[in-house]
Amino acid sequence: MEYFVKSGNPEKQRVACVIVGIFDRRNPTQAANTIDTASDGAIGSIMRRGDIDGKLGQTIVLHNLTGVFCDRVLLVGLGRERDFDERAYRKANAAAAKALRATGSIDAVNYLPHLELKGRDYLWNVRHAVLATEDEYYRFDTCRGTKAREDLPAYKLERYTFDVPRRSDLPDGERGLEEALAISHGVRVTKDLSNLPGNLCTPTYLAESAMSLAKQSGFKCKVLEQADMEKFGMGALLSVAKGSRQPPKLIVLEYNGAARGDKPVALVGKGLTFDAGGISIKPSAQMDEMKFDMCGGASVIGTFIAAAELKVPLNLVGVIPACENLPDGQANKPGDIVTSMAGITIEVLNTDAEGRLILCDALTYVEKQYEPVLCIDMATLTGAVITALGSFACGLFSNTSSLARALVNAGEQSGDRAWELPLWPEYEPQLKSEFADIANIATAGGREAGAIIGATFLHKFTKKMKWAHLDIAGTAWTGKKATGRPVPLLTQYLLNYAAKKNEE
Ligand code: BES
Ligand code: MN
Ligand code: ZN
Repeated sequence: MEYFVKSGNPEKQRVACVIVGIFDRRNPTQAANTIDTASDGAIGSIMRRGDIDGKLGQTIVLHNLTGVFCDRVLLVGLGRERDFDERAYRKANAAAAKALRATGSIDAVNYLPHLELKGRDYLWNVRHAVLATEDEYYRFDTCRGTKAREDLPAYKLERYTFDVPRRSDLPDGERGLEEALAISHGVRVTKDLSNLPGNLCTPTYLAESAMSLAKQSGFKCKVLEQADMEKFGMGALLSVAKGSRQPPKLIVLEYNGAARGDKPVALVGKGLTFDAGGISIKPSAQMDEMKFDMCGGASVIGTFIAAAELKVPLNLVGVIPACENLPDGQANKPGDIVTSMAGITIEVLNTDAEGRLILCDALTYVEKQYEPVLCIDMATLTGAVITALGSFACGLFSNTSSLARALVNAGEQSGDRAWELPLWPEYEPQLKSEFADIANIATAGGREAGAIIGATFLHKFTKKMKWAHLDIAGTAWTGKKATGRPVPLLTQYLLNYAAKKNEE
């Protein structure tokens, strides 16, 4: 399917379907009024009959209206006009996309981008309409048998146009479409990698995928093997990998959109392709979801795809430590002490707190090898962040307040939100170990503030660079489906950062 941006009158569109909105209490939008007038009050009479009153997400398809050139009109409920916000806008567009696919339409024009949202422009409107549509249309069927795949519905929609009010709004709309296509490409790849089960998406598979995606999208990828990690002294990362038959991979991505020698922005993502907990084994209920423990790594790849497609004028480096966490004769045992690349010794009191063990070496590696201007890591690090924030925002931690602020803003702009939690020094003593420099879980305070304790552990390894940590355990998937978050947040952040850098 292809997307377009246009500016034209709703009653004059020669397409299979025109989409217009109705606010709650049977309050039509301007585009709906235009259709109503052209069709001798068809929309008004449908509303009076009580078939649609405009509740958010309601839809109804009208056929054979007189006075309009399209085959159908799809009415979409927008909710109360005074409550109409970004969330409602996205929800209405998702509902429109769903209802549209249920018709036999081959092409459609959507007038929802005309709606006014405080502080938002047509770039934002078109971008979010396309993103909501792509999210609605995403399917993951690669693991179904051929028969099942043949039985999937065949969709007819080929051309989907988003309309903006004036011709002068077209450049904004076009840019919104461009951004949406790049972001949704990154999100789609992230979801595909994340949804794959652990037996298929192994560290080796993840590394090979990164290699081929890098080639397609025009960035570089190299893969460090176990022997390389040994040379760097990545004892923490290797200690987790030891418990698995799958060899670990350290995936390194490089994108050059700025001058050579311009220090890169670093993105680090947890790539645990399956987390059984190790010897501190997890309960079996919902353990299948631990295939999603590589969502951070997949998001780094997805963000690179979006950034490369948008030709973001920055240099980027991505680091993804990839391995499995399984119980085995060679696995970490509670009480084991390992030496990280930074030289800090770690007492592994719980083998299930493995994310921080693989991330600390990845963070040290990127800091020493690349001296990034700033570094953002993303990881499905703690169940505790789900307790704290649920699934609407990821947990955000940073040693630099301007970076935290910029990430919160990018989250608001992209609808992929982050919420800051503290990194106060008061928490540090809770990681005290009797035998090593630091323990990998809290040795005081029980299960309190688990997400902060995880971030505090990483903070010990990021004293020399501007750094932020996103705990995405609550947002990277919901139910049993990957969301592709935080690719929209990070892409927005990089766009904003590049724009600001250009000003200086
Ligand atoms: N990958 C998990 C975190 C997780 C758990 C994400 C549930 C999503 C849902 C991580 O490796 C882990 O096991 N963390 C432990 C840390 C604890 C042992 C300090 C946790 O959250 O229970
Ligand atoms: Mn774990
Ligand atoms: Zn984990």
